[in-house]
Amino acid sequence: MCGIIGYTGEQKAAPILIEGLSALEYRGYDSSGVALLADGEITAVKSKGRIAVLEEKLENTKLPEATCGIGHTRWATHGEPSDINAHPHLSSSLALVHNGIIENYRAIENHLSLSGYDFVSQTDTEAAAHLIDFYYQKTNDPVEALCSAADEMRGSFAFGVVFANIPDTIYAIRKDSPLIVAATGSAGLIASDITAILAHTNKYFRIDEGIVAVVKKGEINFLDREGKKVAQNEETVDWTVSRAQKSGFSHFMQKEIFEEPDAIRKTVTPRLLSGIPDFGNDAPNGETLAKFDRIHIVACGTAMHAGLIGKAFTERLARVPVNVEIASEFRYRDPILGENDLVILLSQSGETADTLAALRHAKARGTATLAIVNVIGSSVAREADSVIYTLAGPEIAVASTKAYSVQCAVLVLLAVSTALGRGQMSQADAEDICRAMSENVPDDVAAVLKMSDDICKVAKKYTGCEDLFYIGRGIDADMCTEGSLKLKEISYIHSEAYAAGELKHGTISLVTEGVPVVALITERALCEKVISAIREVKSRGARVLCIVTDDIAEDFDIPCDDMIRFPASVPELALFSAASVLQLFAYHAASARGLDVDKPRNLAKSVTVE
Ligand code: M6R
Repeated sequence: MCGIIGYTGEQKAAPILIEGLSALEYRGYDSSGVALLADGEITAVKSKGRIAVLEEKLENTKLPEATCGIGHTRWATHGEPSDINAHPHLSSSLALVHNGIIENYRAIENHLSLSGYDFVSQTDTEAAAHLIDFYYQKTNDPVEALCSAADEMRGSFAFGVVFANIPDTIYAIRKDSPLIVAATGSAGLIASDITAILAHTNKYFRIDEGIVAVVKKGEINFLDREGKKVAQNEETVDWTVSRAQKSGFSHFMQKEIFEEPDAIRKTVTPRLLSGIPDFGNDAPNGETLAKFDRIHIVACGTAMHAGLIGKAFTERLARVPVNVEIASEFRYRDPILGENDLVILLSQSGETADTLAALRHAKARGTATLAIVNVIGSSVAREADSVIYTLAGPEIAVASTKAYSVQCAVLVLLAVSTALGRGQMSQADAEDICRAMSENVPDDVAAVLKMSDDICKVAKKYTGCEDLFYIGRGIDADMCTEGSLKLKEISYIHSEAYAAGELKHGTISLVTEGVPVVALITERALCEKVISAIREVKSRGARVLCIVTDDIAEDFDIPCDDMIRFPASVPELALFSAASVLQLFAYHAASARGLDVDKPRNLAKSVTVE
């Protein structure tokens, strides 16, 4: 999705804006631009395509000596990617960058056209720029202008604005779209996320909705619409610039898969007390969890797939029914929520628009909510009744990997805690699983990472495929949904995931000579069933890659063309090693195709619009 950066300080603004935009590239974009403010004038330079194209354009443009400016990476929603549609958008008194969608922009355009405003782009954002200008011309008060315009707009927005006649100052306001501001000794910054300003500071403020941030060199004021100062909470991340860099890896995705053992350990260990799960005061623990009759896990994409793992563990260990839902459906289908239900929102970014809307829906219905989120202080984290942070560090690659593993880890701990609270599990069994989660699982995943080159060799055999099936049973079927998503989003190889027993109810008609099928087997109890499904597809000519734990491979004769065997010292928790195998398989298949693995086409890291 779009990215915002703004800088005011003592250094030249343009290079700092470009550096910030480059750090935001991972979010996905198709054009970019900057607006520089100097001597009462605004100079905007915008360009379709990569930031490198914008940089070249900047080098060939006579720029003012500006120490204040705003920049943007645009992911097109209204109007094609083009120089004109790129942000910043200009009006007579100001330049503006925008993340989000203005739903009623047509109505605003119609009314402003009557007041003499000309529209040159196809975007919804230009309406916002002119509307703020309209109120600024009337009031000569930037805060009032921003608040009045915000009142009139429907949809979601994070705005960064510079006014031509207000030197060295950036104004920011938001609704349903993230925006942070920060001040260092000599600079003021705004950004859509912390990675853009990490080179300057790791301390920042998230602006509350309806509040205007007035950002100057080394100073920020937060004002309500009456112009009264209000306080905002400062937050800190322990992320460093190096954690947001590739550090010798070819891609962020590869680096992030290799961070999984550490991420799991860091997420699990602080949540164990006397060997069993303890979420402290952050979130409900055993006895409180045990009171819920039903749990709903609501999320999108990979996070939703992690939810399926949460369902399997909670139902198996605690015998509580769990409903897993796609957030974009949950919010509109009037879900049945009982008074003893718990809604768990899973999100890496904590800013996914549909997940946030689902959270608000659940809260409005009076249902207890718990967020499991990676980004500290994000909207989902702040609005839920309670929050458990996954401690994976920044995830930059669009394809989610380590965030999935740590989401699964927290869900396993929650399942154990619920099972203990309901008396479904002995203390000793709980301690065994928790010990395995903090020790065996990270070690097993580390062992899988050592197999990366071997997995690469196998993946290369499948890079030429156009269609592929993933099959498994039980938890393996859930894992297959994620393995399949990972492959298709970065390699563009079409794939589908099926519960192996379901194939013969229709899909097997697509299995003909040479069709590749990936069979995942970690569940010993269901192993023979998957082997039967393999025989069924093989007898129709399928080419089968079996991904299987070492112990099952030893004990069973599996008919397949290729095999990836991996260690899982605790069979019930083999999913964590399996996840890394599936991620590495997708990663190597996509890189062998020479694709931009970290920034797959059309995708954005954080989907902050509906
Ligand atoms: O930030 P979130 O976890 O809420 O994001 C949810 C999905 O958009 C995300 O997992 C998406 O599916 C990834 N591209 C998957 O790799």
